[in-house]
Amino acid sequence: MRSMRANCRFYWGSNEVAAKALTSWGTNTLGFVIHARVHVRPATEDDLDEINDIYNHYVLESHFTFDDEPLTMDTRREWFGHYAPTGRHRVFVATDGDDVIGFATSSRYRPKPGYLTSVETSIYLAPEATGKGAGTRLYETLFKSIEGEDLHRALAGIALPNPESVALHEKFGFKRVALYTEQGRKFGRYWDVAWFEKPLGA
Ligand SMILES: CC(C)(COP(=O)(O)OP(=O)(O)OC[C@H]1O[C@@H](n2cnc3c(N)ncnc32)[C@H](O)[C@@H]1OP(=O)(O)O)[C@@H](O)C(=O)NCCC(=O)NCCS
Repeated sequence: MRSMRANCRFYWGSNEVAAKALTSWGTNTLGFVIHARVHVRPATEDDLDEINDIYNHYVLESHFTFDDEPLTMDTRREWFGHYAPTGRHRVFVATDGDDVIGFATSSRYRPKPGYLTSVETSIYLAPEATGKGAGTRLYETLFKSIEGEDLHRALAGIALPNPESVALHEKFGFKRVALYTEQGRKFGRYWDVAWFEKPLGA
């Protein structure tokens, strides 16, 4: 099992090499090169360790998810069973070389059948991979993959503050439709959650 720490070292090690080579071209050029080598593909069982490492970082370090205990691999494998290579419920990973640097999902919103035309979307990148366009690449692929499915709404709940996530969702056409105040408690305090929706299909 590769740890996220190891992934991040690889990621930054590669960036450092690129950075030295591109110093005179400036940071925009470097950002373009990093963006260009990110690849997005459907997740496989082999990715689950790295997906779990990325997610568990935010479980321990942030209010972005209201899980407060790291997910076990048994739970992660069960989670993976909710997705398929076709249909409404998908999971994609972003990779840089052999390393998984992030993942995005379209998940069942609620169990009752009337909710099947809504999906809840979610996205997490390794901390060192944020702010370089990988989130955009993941969401582009995710939303392309569910075009043509019998879906009407994508929903996303964002625990505030999280300006990066708000910006990404607004970039993809999500509009804020609700603010639930103090909807969750973590780290001994309550957090507001803004709910965003995006029309899908016809
Ligand atoms: C939220 C997250 C997935 C966004 O992915 P990302 O790769 O960092 O985002 P991108 O680099 O593709 O940027 C998307 C847009 O947001 C903008 N943006 C990024 N940070 C921003 C900020 N702090 N304020 C305003 N805009 C911001 C970017 O400029 C970009 O817009 P542009 O293409 O028009 O310039 C990523 O930051 C992440 O994993 N964060 C931690 C986990 C998390 O919060 N997950 C979501 C839980 S709801």
